[in-house]
Amino acid sequence: MTSPLTIRGYDGVEFWVGNAKQAAHVYRSVFGFRLAAYAGPETGVRDRASYVLQQGDLRFVFTSGLRADHDVVRHQARHGDGIHDVAFEVTDAEQAHAAAVERGARTACEPERREDAHGVVVVSAIETYGDTIHSFVQRDGYAGPYLPGYEPADAPMLAPPVGLTAIDHVVGNVEVGAMDDWAAFYERILGLTPFHHFTDEDISTEYSALMSKVLWDGVGNVRMPINEPAEGRRRSQIEEYLDAHDGPGVQHLALATDDIVTTVRALRDRGLGFLDVPHEYYAEARRRVGEVDHAWNDLAELGILVDRDDAGYLLQIFTEPLQDRPTVFLELIQREGATGFGAGNFKALFAAVERAQRERGNL
Ligand code: FE2
Repeated sequence: MTSPLTIRGYDGVEFWVGNAKQAAHVYRSVFGFRLAAYAGPETGVRDRASYVLQQGDLRFVFTSGLRADHDVVRHQARHGDGIHDVAFEVTDAEQAHAAAVERGARTACEPERREDAHGVVVVSAIETYGDTIHSFVQRDGYAGPYLPGYEPADAPMLAPPVGLTAIDHVVGNVEVGAMDDWAAFYERILGLTPFHHFTDEDISTEYSALMSKVLWDGVGNVRMPINEPAEGRRRSQIEEYLDAHDGPGVQHLALATDDIVTTVRALRDRGLGFLDVPHEYYAEARRRVGEVDHAWNDLAELGILVDRDDAGYLLQIFTEPLQDRPTVFLELIQREGATGFGAGNFKALFAAVERAQRERGNL
């Protein structure tokens, strides 16, 4: 057996979308991302256009295909705008790929050495749930803006950054009965370990339910929860996702901020929609969570949820779906010691999700 593969953290997330130019514009003007790099016809890439956005340690890439028979176009036609690649930064992309494949992963991209005037990057990739892949990126010693083939972008900031610092976790939705297999996949293939904290329980309301398992790197640089639908009285939000997305995929990305009140206020001012929180939530939350170093008025005004575990508390909020299909959305999270995922909020959140689902006629 080859030595265990070392994942340093998330390298970035690539969205495959219908119109990368407009998607990138929204993330720049609403979230305050910086356009760091670009590849497309103007840089000699004929079949696609990719925009690389950065904020803090966070990197999003938006890609569109430019021809009907392009993989990106087919992916988008089937799944809608969504996430294709959750990339990890590794110390050795060739060894990571070899170790993963030896343990049973299917290859998505053989190790490839790419080079330009800024240095060398080695990239490989494996398949995971649905049509999603994990790239392994080895970028030590590379000084360019993203990857060889991308050119630095000369573009103004469209809005101030909102304080996003990093990816906190990436959640996948898989079919009924598949959660355990995918949890085992992340343990066996990537060497992640089960994170025992509320997460093995059923999370359910009267209408919908899910089961969730979390795998992590033991440090907190990588956390990968996996959801599957559970039996409920009505169609669960996970089933709605699986229908709309036509199969498993990334359900949400949680983005870390050190000041969620300022982050959410800026995003609301710029027109971003969040899930409504029932009024009754805050009285219940104050009883459940107790003292926090945040003003409850701010939290209630902005719809920020609060949860507590043994290690501290956390603040979180969920956006509406980012595209017309009810598939991927974002979470913003500020951890004040807490290491969990807001299990205490799930019930309150589900009530809000189901209200939106009912409005779409899917409940
Ligand atoms: Fe989350």
